[in-house]
Amino acid sequence: MRKAFEIGFGTTENELVIDELQLKGKIPDWVEGTLLRNGPGTFKAGNQNYRHWFDGLAMLHKFTFRNGTVSYANKFLQCKAYNEAKLNEKISYSEFATDPCYSLFDRVKGVFSPKITDSAKVNVGNLSGKFVALGEPSLQMEFDPETLESVGVFAYDNKVNQHVTTVHPHIDNNEVINLTTRFGRVSNYRFMKLTKGNDPQLVASQKVKSPAYLHSFGMSKNYLIITEFPYVVNPLKVLFKAKPFIENYVWKPERGTRIFIFDRNSGKLIKKTITDAFFAFHHINAFEKGNELIFDIAAYPDPGIIQSFYLDRIKSEEKILPGGEIRRYKVDLNSSQKVTFEKLTDELIELPRFDYDKLNMNGNYQFIYSIGMDSKAKNSFYDQIVKSDIKSGKSVVWSEQNCFPGEPVFIRNPKSKSEDDGIILSVVLDESKGNSFLLVMDAQSFTEIARAEIPHAVLFGYHGNFYTNI
Ligand SMILES: [Fe+2]
Repeated sequence: MRKAFEIGFGTTENELVIDELQLKGKIPDWVEGTLLRNGPGTFKAGNQNYRHWFDGLAMLHKFTFRNGTVSYANKFLQCKAYNEAKLNEKISYSEFATDPCYSLFDRVKGVFSPKITDSAKVNVGNLSGKFVALGEPSLQMEFDPETLESVGVFAYDNKVNQHVTTVHPHIDNNEVINLTTRFGRVSNYRFMKLTKGNDPQLVASQKVKSPAYLHSFGMSKNYLIITEFPYVVNPLKVLFKAKPFIENYVWKPERGTRIFIFDRNSGKLIKKTITDAFFAFHHINAFEKGNELIFDIAAYPDPGIIQSFYLDRIKSEEKILPGGEIRRYKVDLNSSQKVTFEKLTDELIELPRFDYDKLNMNGNYQFIYSIGMDSKAKNSFYDQIVKSDIKSGKSVVWSEQNCFPGEPVFIRNPKSKSEDDGIILSVVLDESKGNSFLLVMDAQSFTEIARAEIPHAVLFGYHGNFYTNI
């Protein structure tokens, strides 16, 4: 097996606290703050292996920039799934595509009912002043951003009335809005709003017979958007845990993709329309122009990408991953005109980011930063960072031999005069050296300006954010 996959989907041996990482190059003076990242810290429990990239047990990573230096720390999220896996040396909780093993006795008696994971491993968020590790099952975990110690369970409605949430809440001024799903005989999509000091509030809800797998949603100044791909589940199968979570979902392209649009203030469903079947993890941006609601999304023809993330398939190195196409969808709010879309660039990408703080819900944005694949290198995992200019349709890439970068996070220069005046941070696994480094790039020229060596490999992770107040 290729070394990069052995270590990138392996186990992190140590929890480190390092005051100053070895640095090559110079960090710009204006960069002060902390990058918090989430992702798997191990794909093993005792001798048992998790099966899928979205299965491992959560680990937080922290990179703090002060006076031109970078400090680092990493820590497993102290949740029940992790603690029991460590104590019992076996998988005890049901993850995205892995269930605990059951004895024949359990199966005959029909008593197996795996507990759903609380290992919130996909993203981090500052939700109304609390730092929270975000996962798709509804149990989120608050943590201390200084020490990375877990603080306790965080729920969107105080009572955990939902079963799953997206890991991409939107933040606008002091409001945090997220889309959750409650499974039942009657299932519901529910938009929840959090504001500091107040109880969570239900903003809008929609009954649904066969809920879809939804990883994100769209939000413009006035509207909330559910893009309901036809990758759907009989909710009773999830509740009765017939199979690992995602394996209960079925691709039904004949249903098309339904688009639900809600008024953000009243919560009223103002339009329901349909377009051809497609699949996506990530909405990128959404905005309004006249009568049109426009949203950009990283789209696939089908959910085959989820199959491509099974570890045996990545490790077999036979196929390169499918990539997402940056599409712009347009919905006319005042007529029954068909939903249209156009492709914005040729490069195939995933984990798209842009200058969210300044340009979310703004149709004038120009640059998207993502990871992608060099089709000539024929690696079976992401091996380049892509900067897409969605106005010209052109892309530039960063890559280095035997290097596998993670999600690129853009940080704007506070004195910036142009959209891409800032830096990009990406944790890169260097297969040749067997460790990872934090790559610091100038976003404008898209070239390296510094790298900080991390004394171990950071497993292939998902999302993170930069905070200037830590
Ligand atoms: Fe995501």
